Amino acid sequence: MTADDVVSAYAAPEERDVETSLRPRQLDEFIGQHRVREQLEVLLRSAQRRNRPPDHILLSGPPGLGKTSLAMIVAAELGSAIRVTSGPAIERSGDLAAVLTTLARGDVLFIDEIHRIARPAEELLYSAMEDFRVDVVVGKGPGATAIPLDVEPFTLVGATTRSGLLTGPLRDRFGFVAHLDFYGAADLERVLDRSAAILGVRIDTAGAAEIAGRSRGTPRIANRLLRRVRDYAEVRADGIVTEDIARAALAVYEVDRVGLDRLDRAVLDALVSSFGGGPVGLSTLAVAVGEEPGTVEEVAEPFLVRAGLLARTPRGRVATPAAWAHLGRTPPPGSPAALAAGSAAVADPSDPGDLFGGSFRAAP
Ligand SMILES: Nc1ncnc2c1ncn2[C@@H]1O[C@H](COP(=O)(O)OP(=O)(O)OP(=O)(O)O)[C@@H](O)[C@H]1O
Ligand SMILES: [Mg+2]
Repeated sequence: MTADDVVSAYAAPEERDVETSLRPRQLDEFIGQHRVREQLEVLLRSAQRRNRPPDHILLSGPPGLGKTSLAMIVAAELGSAIRVTSGPAIERSGDLAAVLTTLARGDVLFIDEIHRIARPAEELLYSAMEDFRVDVVVGKGPGATAIPLDVEPFTLVGATTRSGLLTGPLRDRFGFVAHLDFYGAADLERVLDRSAAILGVRIDTAGAAEIAGRSRGTPRIANRLLRRVRDYAEVRADGIVTEDIARAALAVYEVDRVGLDRLDRAVLDALVSSFGGGPVGLSTLAVAVGEEPGTVEEVAEPFLVRAGLLARTPRGRVATPAAWAHLGRTPPPGSPAALAAGSAAVADPSDPGDLFGGSFRAAP
């Protein structure tokens, strides 16, 4: 992973081992997401009481918020075995039938990225989920026959970052749908404290707060920044993660106080400095930062929009008053940002508050 990817919400392949070691194992170790946690707990306990596998569970939400962790927790809480596969791995319905027919009673089947499952396999899944039965087609053409096979009662846990791409019939077959949201600063601090304890890193409260504020509401990013800051603390200081150390380390990795990286800032800076805050078209903006339009749109913009720093309008991209404030600039009088700023409280650029705690918010 390069320094440029340090605030990516996606896991790098080499992060898999450390992620596994940091994963919460039980529901009560899972930080935040209180409503989802409570609903899941009730679902699991009541199923155990009735001695039946719980309803199928769909976990949706952006990358790095804990879907895989929760799937593992469901199996652990039930004391069940878990089989893990993913939508892209199931190309043919036969692949899925082979998995389904070898499940034991009460097993958990985890299908990650379930929105990417091939359509014939998805149809097979319907009857497995509903009736615990699959029809396996043998042969081809007019001579083909469907052989019905029983499937032991199981619980499907599906995870998706794109719940909008799920078909209606598939979504309807989940008895429980949980949507994970971005984490607030306090919960991220708890994630950091817990991870620091597991990794044997000494961190103080202000150090954790400093990292949490830059983690984009995402535990995976918080854990990654913690590791980078730990490295810095070990090489440049006494190994203890304090506020000053966290600041200095994250400056080296070019992650700013609200979690923007170099590309994010380049986009905002071009928007403000070269185009007066916009509106400007995506391709023009991309040329100005020397990137492909797709990279600007898919890598930088989602977080800038979520953070209330950039707006996508029919006429093009626009910097919000919060973006001007974040760059320490004043929008020219009469510009859209100045007018918007005049009608709403603007963020104080000297306030290092976090975007999700509300002290740094774009005008509507
Ligand atoms: N609620 C939480 N409490 C503690 N740690 C968490 C929590 N949620 C996520 N994490 C940490 O963040 C890392 C990423 O979580 P996880 O792999 O479960 O995310 P995901 O939603 O499955 O992401 P993806 O969409 O990329 O598959 C885990 O290694 C775990 O350590
Ligand atoms: Mg996952």
